[in-house]
Amino acid sequence: MEQVQVVFPQFDRTIVARRGDNLLALMQQHAILLEADCGGVACCQRCRVLINDEPQLACMTNLMTDVSVVVPSAQPEEDFLI
Ligand code: FES
Repeated sequence: MEQVQVVFPQFDRTIVARRGDNLLALMQQHAILLEADCGGVACCQRCRVLINDEPQLACMTNLMTDVSVVVPSAQPEEDFLI
């Protein structure tokens, strides 16, 4: 099983994922809150993140390489649980 590292610099957190994992699902599994009103079918545009400084939809992103992810709307202390 190949692994990739997903770095969330604003939360000072790195998550190891399986290559091909969906980013939105990974974030939900690790309690990094992100609005996903359409349930991950690319309709609402609420799950926008910056992946290596490029805007992307988390629900449409399968992780194939190590990446850095920034959640523009997040306030670390409010939107990151644990
Ligand atoms: S969850 Fe709605 S566009 Fe990604």
